[in-house]
Amino acid sequence: MKFIDEYLSDIKDKGLYRELKFFNRPQSKYTSIGNKRMLLMASNNYLDLCNDDRLKDAAEKAIHTYGVGSGGSRLTTGSYELHDQLEKKIAIFKGTEAAILFNTGYMANIGTITAIADKEWIIFSDALNHASIIDGCRLSGAKIVVYKHCDMDDLQEKIKVYKGNKRFIVTDGVFSMDGDIAPLDKIVKLAKENNILTMVDDAHGTGVLGDNGTGCVEYFNLKGQVDIQLGTLSKALASEGGFVAGTKSLVTYLRHKARSFIYSTALSPAMIAVSLCSLDIVKNEKERRVKLLENSKWFQWELRKLGFNVLESNTVIIALVIGNAEKTIKLSEKLFEKGIFISAIRPPTVPEHTSRLRITLMSSHNREELKYVLDKLKEAGMELGII
Ligand SMILES: Cc1ncc(COP(=O)(O)O)c(C=O)c1O
Repeated sequence: MKFIDEYLSDIKDKGLYRELKFFNRPQSKYTSIGNKRMLLMASNNYLDLCNDDRLKDAAEKAIHTYGVGSGGSRLTTGSYELHDQLEKKIAIFKGTEAAILFNTGYMANIGTITAIADKEWIIFSDALNHASIIDGCRLSGAKIVVYKHCDMDDLQEKIKVYKGNKRFIVTDGVFSMDGDIAPLDKIVKLAKENNILTMVDDAHGTGVLGDNGTGCVEYFNLKGQVDIQLGTLSKALASEGGFVAGTKSLVTYLRHKARSFIYSTALSPAMIAVSLCSLDIVKNEKERRVKLLENSKWFQWELRKLGFNVLESNTVIIALVIGNAEKTIKLSEKLFEKGIFISAIRPPTVPEHTSRLRITLMSSHNREELKYVLDKLKEAGMELGII
């Protein structure tokens, strides 16, 4: 079809064409593509649990007990006792009355936002919110008011302009491509003063931030003050699935109204068993996230010393901004040749002229490995005239 060919040739010209990379070993700090061993510096498997024996054993046991496919949607035949256990465990972990599982974080966002808002609602949404939040907002038909990224003055101004009694503020907890943390304390304060609901998508804070690893709400000491806490099990928790934690009535409401919950086959028991086990590991192995965050701070510091443009981040997501899409790809390819995997992130995932390497650390990376990456980044950065 002509329009497809034209589109594909256009994105090739602009350096925006994307290729899939196929791994043939588990997602861990060392993995492989083809016959090339790769040091992985780009995974959301922050706690390096995707290949953990305890999680694999949990999945195996669940398969032997319950089989593989769940066989139906949650409201028909797809709810197992394990789903109930996991929802209760997530609620305890997040400090809420209840929780509800979705098949992915993406589905949790679109299902929740469309269940709550319709064209009578106003949604205040951070300019850098994740695509699944944006899609949920658009699908809902609500009036979407985008405020400047983490800019509380702008949010306050917009709250004054867009009045009504059906309003909510939605934000990423940790921004997935920049690595910064939303000023949740200030957002909650503004929301309370103006009688507005709050929703935080803590996909990247869950399992990493806060003394107990429960995420942004704990990090800001805001227990009980955020109305809708959304998260995903697919990143630090090394599993699959999304969830919403909140009041019992919110969860019951979503069970009746969230279309992506109602009309999709439930997660398999094996993946639920994995999540149950990884929540225990997060609780019991604090040292993983302590090391992770220490290494992240150190690594960012070293990158800046080399002259790279690195965004400010208190998390494990490190955005090394290049700007030009083609140069970003070249840098990523040069690292690939040296056995280092770091994804190049380009528009439309990030705004025009802000193409970047999105570097993410795992708790298992050691300083020697990180120094190797710094050396290779320095070499490649100099060759390409980036530093
Ligand atoms: C902020 C944010 N929300 C939601 C998602 C989607 O989660 P999942 O991968 O479980 O669909 C992601 C992951 O890509 C994300 O970064």
